[in-house]
Amino acid sequence: MRLDKFLCEMNLGTRSQVKSYVRRGQASVNGVTAVDPQMKIREGMDEVAFRGQILCYRKNVYYMLNKPAGVVSATRDNTAPTVVSLLKDCGREGLFPVGRLDKDTEGLLLLTDDGELAHRLLSPRKHVDKTYQVTVERSLETEDILRLEQGVDIGEEKPTLPARVQVLEDSVIRLTIQEGKFHQVKRMLQAVNRQVLALKRVSFGALELDQSLEPGQYRELTPEEILSLQDCGDGENSRDRRNGQDA
Ligand code: URA
Repeated sequence: MRLDKFLCEMNLGTRSQVKSYVRRGQASVNGVTAVDPQMKIREGMDEVAFRGQILCYRKNVYYMLNKPAGVVSATRDNTAPTVVSLLKDCGREGLFPVGRLDKDTEGLLLLTDDGELAHRLLSPRKHVDKTYQVTVERSLETEDILRLEQGVDIGEEKPTLPARVQVLEDSVIRLTIQEGKFHQVKRMLQAVNRQVLALKRVSFGALELDQSLEPGQYRELTPEEILSLQDCGDGENSRDRRNGQDA
């Protein structure tokens, strides 16, 4: 909806009055003063304020964190800083990480207060792709790559789902998996006799790590990124690539 239409619907004035209010800097969207009365707002997603009063409250918030090593993916911990403590200045309570990265893993972590979306993204039935940049102690042979791509035994009831491997350098690969088992990437590499030296998540579903974020930095997702996550796992891209095995 257009901002001026929204302000009219909130009974703040006629169309021409609200336009002039916007041009005088009296409205803001997501904390930023609006300049264009015709700008599009997404109700329920954008926070619209008029003369400092919030009119349209965002039900949920979504942050991308570049998780540094040494921080735990939890809301509370007695021994180490948590990913939630890194976002304490964002002014929103009730945030939690969507899934976990190991303490020594870096990279993309989504934090939100939207339990419904988190539940869907983490559902094993959705097979949401997660891509990791993995540094191993020794380069992989073609045969190792084929094994990872087909699925390996990591000591679970079933082998891992088919993965995708892209070799970036001798001992650096990108591994895309559809599951999120405990220490999964490390266990998969262990299955082909490689130790993981460094692990960084670079994408989660359609969401890609913003390269401008230094470890420990975070930013809000754009409306487009939120929508892309809401569609995650509903398409064919990440679904049922396994042969005759079911999650
Ligand atoms: N797989 C791992 O082994 N560790 C992570 O942190 C994420 C995936």
